[in-house]
Amino acid sequence: MKTITARTSGHSYPIIVGTNLGAKLLSHVRREVGDARLFVFYDANFYALHRATVQRSFGLSSRYRYEFVVPSGEKAKSVGVLSGIYDFLLSEKITRDDFVLVCGGGVTSDLIGFAAATVLRGVRWGVLSTTLLGMVDAAIGGKTGINHGRGKNLIGAFHQPHFVVSDLSFLATLPERQMTTGLGEIVKTAGLSGQKAISDLETYLNRGDLYDLKMLSRLVHTCASFKSKVVECDERESDARMVLNFGHTFAHGIEKTLGFGRLLHGEAVILGVDSALELGRELGMQSAGLETYQNMVQRLMICVPKRKMDARQILSAMALDKKRSATDQRYVMLKRVGNPIIRENVDHRLVRSALVAMLKRYQKVRDLP
Ligand SMILES: NC(=O)c1ccc[n+]([C@@H]2O[C@H](COP(=O)([O-])OP(=O)(O)OC[C@H]3O[C@@H](n4cnc5c(N)ncnc54)[C@H](O)[C@@H]3O)[C@@H](O)[C@H]2O)c1
Repeated sequence: MKTITARTSGHSYPIIVGTNLGAKLLSHVRREVGDARLFVFYDANFYALHRATVQRSFGLSSRYRYEFVVPSGEKAKSVGVLSGIYDFLLSEKITRDDFVLVCGGGVTSDLIGFAAATVLRGVRWGVLSTTLLGMVDAAIGGKTGINHGRGKNLIGAFHQPHFVVSDLSFLATLPERQMTTGLGEIVKTAGLSGQKAISDLETYLNRGDLYDLKMLSRLVHTCASFKSKVVECDERESDARMVLNFGHTFAHGIEKTLGFGRLLHGEAVILGVDSALELGRELGMQSAGLETYQNMVQRLMICVPKRKMDARQILSAMALDKKRSATDQRYVMLKRVGNPIIRENVDHRLVRSALVAMLKRYQKVRDLP
């Protein structure tokens, strides 16, 4: 078990990474809840699989424990579901001394974190993160929110949790595609973080077991530390946090073109990171380390489901994104592994050829016509 301390302007909090963390969870819940009450929110799939294990670890009598099961899936990040959560919290007369606990992945932590940020102008909350993507990304950094008909995550707030417990034991039941989407964010962070993370990821991939908890806990620890350091420098996402968007400019274009949900976000990130590396190569960013890293990213393409994609459509989606933003399209690239740079005003012909090169490779790997 390892603990990272996340420092934010308001308070510091622990991010605990390990397996079988029931006792740890209990001690943090006890410390935060004290004499107040605990409001627990579960992702529905997680609840069906693991409710008994989690409830055992609280050790609280039901008099002090209120529970709510949140629907699974992106659609739960909606005004309708949020309104039901406010109704529940207010009918139970939640006070600002009470504590909210989320048990689930990024959807549940975004949604419930936002409810915690806004009900009574903010109550304290903690996360038991149960997906790989949640552990390496979504549960860390205090960004919470819901979707709007006009786009993802358009309504939200910054609200830092009081602890994050990432218990990898729960990953045993996570479907393979959900593991891949987490891997997309891991491979991205490995490139940003440097050689050690890349070597760990390589060892993990060579072992060939997606559910190798020992290697995964190293990777989760590295990614969570990296993200929490970046957030520490830029809590409200003005500049430094921008590097976390490595591969995301392309990934968003891909997701939009296919229609959201046809590829999971982390799957699109794998393709986006390869495109960003290709773009960097065209701009002269080359080294043996980058080549090894890009080979590893390309190995992961086999895990991305087969989807037909058209470069022109992806570029139009990216251009539309750019029109909507006040600044020019920004691309995060790697000068060397562990050394990101951000460039604006990149020649669109280079962007196009980087994307086309990635799509060719992907089509070859996935055997598409
Ligand atoms: N706030 C942030 O900084 C941030 C960062 C990245 C992503 N996100 C958000 O995170 C969301 C995606 O998160 P996610 O990938 O964790 O998806 P998710 O929360 O939808 O979980 C994925 C699936 O796994 C199921 N599940 C959860 N835990 C399980 C377990 N232990 N065993 C079996 N099944 C389990 C869920 O029911 C769901 O079907 C998106 O909405 C995205 O916008 C937020």
